[in-house]
Amino acid sequence: MTDSVTINDVGPRDGLQNQAKILSPQDRLKLVQALLDAGLRNIEIGAFVSPKAVPAMAGVEDIVAGLPDIDAEFSALIPNRKGYERARDAGIKTMGLVVAASNTMNERNIRMTTAQAVDVARDVLAQAREDDREVQVCIATAWECPFEGKVASDTVLSLSDQLHQAGAASLIIADTIGAANPRAVHQLMSALVAQHGSEYLSCHFHDTRALGMANAYAALEAGIRRFDASIGGLGGCPFAPGATGNISTEDLAMTLSLMGFETGLDMDKLIAAGELANRMTDTQTGVRSL
Ligand code: COA
Ligand code: ZN
Repeated sequence: MTDSVTINDVGPRDGLQNQAKILSPQDRLKLVQALLDAGLRNIEIGAFVSPKAVPAMAGVEDIVAGLPDIDAEFSALIPNRKGYERARDAGIKTMGLVVAASNTMNERNIRMTTAQAVDVARDVLAQAREDDREVQVCIATAWECPFEGKVASDTVLSLSDQLHQAGAASLIIADTIGAANPRAVHQLMSALVAQHGSEYLSCHFHDTRALGMANAYAALEAGIRRFDASIGGLGGCPFAPGATGNISTEDLAMTLSLMGFETGLDMDKLIAAGELANRMTDTQTGVRSL
């Protein structure tokens, strides 16, 4: 087992998509730059979704055009084939396609059933192979759905198999509304690690019930070495009632560093980036609102 952990900062996407204040692409680029300055080399820079559905993600093409030429994984969220094509044409090399583990969440979020979303994933993954792009798949609401309640582990295991067979580069297992608990996280992630190996997996936690860091620890214990987190603890999904901020990149980096893991991050610059994120969005780290 390695002693390093990769943090993928999803602040410019998850962090900003549900804020009351909408930031310009220029300000979002400043945030990306602050994250790079702090040493982050995995950043989700935005989403190629409908600007009508998520106005905060409008102008994502301008962000891609302004990214510095640096060796980093700049990924973007995509909801469907159109999103894939927009991201590809903008020059994005790594996309994160969302497929929720529950039907109602898929219907509310991307206007498809789970079966339709898996079909879209197959199509997008086949196209990505042709285009030499990497598509990671994010399994949303992997523990609990705001509409259907608890999600069975078997549902996630079977979905993960289908997506693996369809060619997903890796899987991000997401507690979209922050309703998981450490035992449930350990159980599901251990089963997924047994099925796919830990290298293939990443976790994404929200801190709705202040369990985000405990859940990250449980995933770490199950062998996970890659996590999404959001600068300043920003975050939330416009289509998932009750979802608050992601675990904060600063908290996760500090926890990992105290535990002896390498993250490659500069704590002071990370805190400065968090302050910038909070200033730009008129929010405060640690203050969560529903
Ligand atoms: N990017 C931009 N526009 C898109 C798009 C994309 N990825 N996918 C579809 N559209 C446009 C269509 O071109 C169409 O535009 P028009 O009204 O100008 O003709 C319109 O959206 C409706 O298209 P349709 O295929 O019927 O989509 P929909 O109404 O079923 O909406 C989504 C589906 C996926 C586009 C929309 O629900 C969405 O963007 N959701 C975002 C989900 C999200 O970001 N969740 C948070 C993160 S998980
Ligand atoms: Zn999220």
